[in-house]
Amino acid sequence: MREHDVKEILIDKTAIAQRVDHLVDEIMEDLGSGHLVVIGILKGSFMFLADLMRSFHRHNVHPRIDFLTLSSYGAGTTSSGTVEIIHDIREDLAGADVLVVDDILDTGKTLRAVINKLGGMTPRQVRTCVLLSKKARREYDIPADYIGFEIPDEFVVGYGLDYAEKYRNLPHIGVLKPELYS
Ligand code: IMP
Ligand code: MG
Repeated sequence: MREHDVKEILIDKTAIAQRVDHLVDEIMEDLGSGHLVVIGILKGSFMFLADLMRSFHRHNVHPRIDFLTLSSYGAGTTSSGTVEIIHDIREDLAGADVLVVDDILDTGKTLRAVINKLGGMTPRQVRTCVLLSKKARREYDIPADYIGFEIPDEFVVGYGLDYAEKYRNLPHIGVLKPELYS
């Protein structure tokens, strides 16, 4: 396929789809079909979340869903530091099995803040699921219970992940041509 701005496709859409189904199989083995509430961290998780939710249907499980919108990177490729809540969740999490879904676990700052916040809403448990993980960049020891793919320390876009709000719509995970952000 011809791609103008992507240097390399790291994970193609077939690999993503297979991994999504496997992740949901794993999640179902651990959590059963209790009071599952899936919390998507926007904007990055939107595509992953949609596929995960469709995959739950294979198990005849229909979780509640809600969204938490957090501050983004702005136009750069490194984190701005603080995690700001732009849109809060509305679901009642008391007694629920909560599955937090994000696009990528990088330094761990975002998930740490989210876990702390949701933990205060008296859920039965909070589990985390990320499509991607960059282990090399971890600053906080965050337990990601379900990880789609470990990737090298490269800035990636697609399947929800952006650079300056672009490329979220790519159906695969790709590495941008460096000249685009240098
Ligand atoms: P953390 O708080 O440092 O773990 O960063 C998590 C957030 O940073 C993710 O939800 C993404 O929005 C963003 N991020 C980290 N690495 C990348 C990347 O390679 N491409 C696009 N966004 C990224
Ligand atoms: Mg994000």
